[in-house]
This record gives sequence, C-alpha cells and structure tokens, in this order.
Amino acid sequence: MSENIEVLYSENRKFPPPEDFAAQSKVPKDIYEKATANPLECWANEARKLHWHKPFTEILDWSNPPFARWFHDGEINVTYNCLDRHVIAGNGDRVAFYWEGEPGDTRTVTYKELLSEVSQASNLLISLGVTEGDRVAIYMPAIPEAVVAMLACARIGAIHSVVFGGFSAESLKSRINDAEAKLVITADGTYRKGKVLPLKPIVDEAVAQTPSVEKVLVVRRAGNDIDWAAGRDLWWHEEISSMDTTHTAKGFPAEQPLYILYTSGTTGTPKGILHSTGGYLTQVSTTHRTVFDLKPDSDIFWCTADIGWVTGHSYVVYGPLANGTTQLLYEGTPDTPHQGRWWELIEKYGVTILYTAPTAIRTFMKLGRQIPAQFDLSSLRLLGSVGEPINPEAWLWYREVIGAGKTPIVDTWWQTETGAIMVSPIPALTDAKPGSAQIPFPGISIDVVDESGSTVGKNQGGLLVAREPWPSMLRGIWGNPERFKETYWSMFGDKYFAGDGAKFDEDGDIWLLGRVDDVLNVSGHRLSTTEIESSLVAHDFVAEAAVVGASDETTGQAVVAFVILKSRHEQKISEAESVHELKAHVAKQIGSLARPRDIHLVDELPKTRSGKIMRRLLRDVAEKRAIGDTTTLADADAIKRIDEKLN
Ligand code: PRX
Repeated sequence: MSENIEVLYSENRKFPPPEDFAAQSKVPKDIYEKATANPLECWANEARKLHWHKPFTEILDWSNPPFARWFHDGEINVTYNCLDRHVIAGNGDRVAFYWEGEPGDTRTVTYKELLSEVSQASNLLISLGVTEGDRVAIYMPAIPEAVVAMLACARIGAIHSVVFGGFSAESLKSRINDAEAKLVITADGTYRKGKVLPLKPIVDEAVAQTPSVEKVLVVRRAGNDIDWAAGRDLWWHEEISSMDTTHTAKGFPAEQPLYILYTSGTTGTPKGILHSTGGYLTQVSTTHRTVFDLKPDSDIFWCTADIGWVTGHSYVVYGPLANGTTQLLYEGTPDTPHQGRWWELIEKYGVTILYTAPTAIRTFMKLGRQIPAQFDLSSLRLLGSVGEPINPEAWLWYREVIGAGKTPIVDTWWQTETGAIMVSPIPALTDAKPGSAQIPFPGISIDVVDESGSTVGKNQGGLLVAREPWPSMLRGIWGNPERFKETYWSMFGDKYFAGDGAKFDEDGDIWLLGRVDDVLNVSGHRLSTTEIESSLVAHDFVAEAAVVGASDETTGQAVVAFVILKSRHEQKISEAESVHELKAHVAKQIGSLARPRDIHLVDELPKTRSGKIMRRLLRDVAEKRAIGDTTTLADADAIKRIDEKLN
C-alpha cells in the first residue's frame, strides 16, 4: 500500500462529489425524493424519453408474479431507439464507436454508418429466413460487427444469445441447443496477446452437434485459414454487400424478448436468462445516463467488458447507444503489446468515463503506478467498477492513480438477472465511500433480510433482496419457468433473492459481502462449483471432486478443486501429470476461465453423516485458515488429514 493510500484509508473518509463535478451535472437533485414518492411514475417518465411506435398506457402488470410485464401495451423497436432516432435528430455524424484492434488497426463508425450497416445486416438475416422470435447465437470478438449483429437481431425481433468467446465448443454447443438457435454468427478469429486466436474451429466443433443450426455467418477478422462447410457457411462481407442499406424498423410489443444470456447457477446446467425490450431499454438507458452522469455530446465512454457478458450487453450496446453515446471499443488484452495499452488508449481517444472490473484494477496495482503515470489520463472525469466487491485499497488506488485523486468512482452492483444497475452512488449527489455500492438506484427497492425475510439491523449480515419488480428484471429462464420461480422467488415468496450476502452500515449504505450460494466469482465472471465438479467427475481419472472458491489477491476468487483419483490411475501417472491433465480437461470442457488455479489430490473429502460434502471446511484449507466447526462431520479427522497433507 502506498503511503498516500494508507493515509486516505486510515481516515476512513467519505469523498463528497468535487464541487466542479456537482456543478456541471444535469442529474436532478430531487431524483431520490421523486422516485420514493412515486417510483412507477418515475419509471414511466424515463420510458417516455424513448421512442415508442405505440405509446403504453399501463406501466406495470404484476398480476401474475413473478412474471412481470412492463409497459406491455406499448410497442417499441430497440434498434430504432439506438440508431434511427439519433440520425433523425441530426446526430448521424456523431461517432458511435472508435474501435481499436489489438494489432493497432482502427475503425471509426458514426451513427449514420452504424444504421446503414445494421439495416444491411437486418435485410441479410431476413433473407436467411430469420424471423421474429427466432434465436441467433453470436460467438464473436469485440469487433463492430458483433454490435451490428446484436442490433440487427433486435431490429427484426429475433432473440440473440451471445456466448462469450472464451467458452469451449462444448459450452457453446449446449447453449446453442438449449436455445435451438437457427443461425450462428462468428468470426474466423481474433487477436489475443499478439497472436491469432481462431474462433471458427470452435464453432465447427460445436455445430457438428446442433441440429437446429442452418447457417453459420463468418466475419473475416484475423484472416486465419479455416475449414468451410459449403452450403452451411457464408462470409458476412460477401452476403452483406448486396443488401439494401435501408430497412424500416417496426414496433414490437414491449415484452418481445430481446436476448437470452447464459449464466452459471448452483446446478451443473447454465441458465438462459431472458430479457425483454421496453422495460430493459428504459432501465439501461436511465442508469447509464444517471450513474455515469452522461453528456452524450462530449463524453467518450469506455466500458471494458466483453459483449459476451451482461455488462457488454447493457453498457456497451443498449444503454450507451440508446443515449447516443460515443464509445471506445477495444478488441484485445490490456497488456499487449505493452502493459500500458489501456492508458495509452485513454490518452489517444480522450476517454472521459472508464467502467471496468476490480480484478483489472488489482492487476494494474500490482504492476505499479509508474505504468499509468507515463500517459496523460487527464480526460477522465468519472470511474466505474462492476462485477465483484471492490476492496477499499483498490478503490483508493483507482481514484488516486487513475483518477488523479479527484475523480468520482461509482461502484455498481447488479447481475445478469437484474439486467441493469440496481445499487450505486450517483456521482454528483453521493458522498462516495470506498468499498460500498451504497444506495439503491432511484425507483429500485432493495433490502437486506434474514432467512425469515425480516430486515436485519445495521452492520448485521443478511441476504440481499429486491422487494419490488424493476423494469429490466429477467422475465424468466429460457424454457424453464419452474427453475425461475424456484431459484429466485421460492426463498421468500414475494421478494427476489439475488444470491448475495450484504449489510447496511451505520449510514444505511449497502456493502456487498459476496455470494451465499455455490456460485464463484472469478475475475468478475460467474462460475458454478457444481458445473466444474461435474466436469471433473466426467474425467476418467476422477472418483470424486469438490470445488470451492478461495480468495485470490487478483481475481477475487480462484477455483480450487479437491479430487479423489480412481485408484487404478494413481499407479500409472504422476500427481503432477494428473493435475495438469485435469486442469486442461476443465478448460476444454467449460472454457479457460473455469480452469482451476489449484487441484489438490486427496484420499477423502469431509462429509456430513448424510454424505454432503462440507465445502466450507475445504475453503478453510484452501485459504490456509484455522478449520471451522467440524461437529457435523461423519469423520472429524478427515479434514485434519487433508489440512496436514496440504498446508
Ligand atoms: O455477486 C455479485 C457480483 O456479481 C454477481 C453477478 O454476476 P453477473 O451476473 O456475472 O454480472 C456481473 C456484472 C453485472 C452478483 O451476484 N457483483 C456484481 N457487481 C458487484 C458484485 N459484487 C459486489 N459489488 C459489485 N459492484
């Protein structure tokens, strides 16, 4: 910890909005009062800032909980709101994206150009037989065509399912099959750490086992050699060039599904979180405008999330474009070709708002302040954080080193399921507190309760819930309404259970305390312990496996697995080889983000008398802590033997 940061930390200070920041902000000062007095009317007013093909008359229909309908008798086209509206208003020449590829190639795309390309892509999708309600899988790098593909689906009422490019063929296959996607849009490859990372071969492997897929559209990005299935595969650039550059967007009912995004839950099968249009667009645009204090005509917004995650959906594509924002989109990794690449990009494009994850900040902290110090970061006026709790030390470093000691920080709590920001400071109004996400967004009703559903007292840990429906809430789990009810609503009946622990402090500010279920958060990405365990047990070597999330200085949590090998394998292969093989197996099955940091080979696992593995005790071992209460163990010595072997 640097001396300065230590001083700031020890003072346990709050950081009031800088005077000049507060003075320039257009966020209304009475925003909380108004929302408290009449939350539904406030959401309706926000919704009316969008273009409706047919205005709504009912704000919320909550007659069949937990299935909400927002603005349901209105008709809206999401893409029209993200593009046409701005061009019609005379802002067609405004830059929508400054795009930079990892090798340093660049593209600048204005709103007018984006509209023209999205119109062509919409016409192409239609010509391929994609119609309203059809599912389209998108497996793409961070290139403008990925955004074009999403907006084209939205424009014609098709439902996209973006799968993060780091997922394996196996994961892609199961997601395509669950959604029964008709079309896959991908690229030949992308650039990662200075090398070409092929994507098309992964798609080829996946679609060999996806009967619903009729065509694969391929964007040429990296120029790598790829296999070609004649009749199935089509080049994006060849197909699109003959398409009309105009397409008339029609309105769809506000509850028309917009996308499915798979996320890990507590079981082995990922959940297809379903979002719809009117309410979603209302909340992503409102939160983007307010939390990021947006000035669309002067800000350059950079959200570093990949479009394969919800943050990329809500704060690269839909929120910012609905607000007519100019953004930076970067294809590659932060450390290629040098460790200052991000800061170089901020200087080059004059980025004013940076939205990233604590794991990135901690990585930069480790590299040292001398790297960002080489660049001019004075354009930055606001910093954001998302994906996991940000420790106060990282928060203070972020503000001091990246934000020149004065830039406000917004720590935003939300989830794939919530669709948009739910808890966050408002930078012009809130005295910021390092480490706390602080205050529910105006119009959002958040509480921290005990297991019986009663609000807990200050500084007592509890469970985070939403008491009232919100516009961008998930509308369900694709194909599984029962799982939707069971996962989020069965615990309290009338409240949404987020799966996070939280507390209120003495000022009533909210602190997030991490997941309370079997979900891990590695570098802000969600993984399920059960999914990784199933993958391990599926390997021929493995008799039993237990996976826990152990705290990790950089990634927040890391995957740590305890594995019992089948005895016949122990003789043939060394421990080191087994561990290596199993790590590679998980990466191949799920994706490299799930690769365990540590695999410990053990002879037994701590179990209760009813046979349930006590992961809590394994977490103690993984984190090298004193072992907790072992009274419910069938064999209390089992965990001691594991601890002795490993620590
Ligand atoms: O545990 C919370 C954590 O990330 C989970 C949601 O993950 P995902 O659906 O992948 O969405 C991530 C991006 C919105 C939450 O249940 N989380 C997210 N933001 C924060 C956070 N934990 C603490 N503070 C945050 N700001």
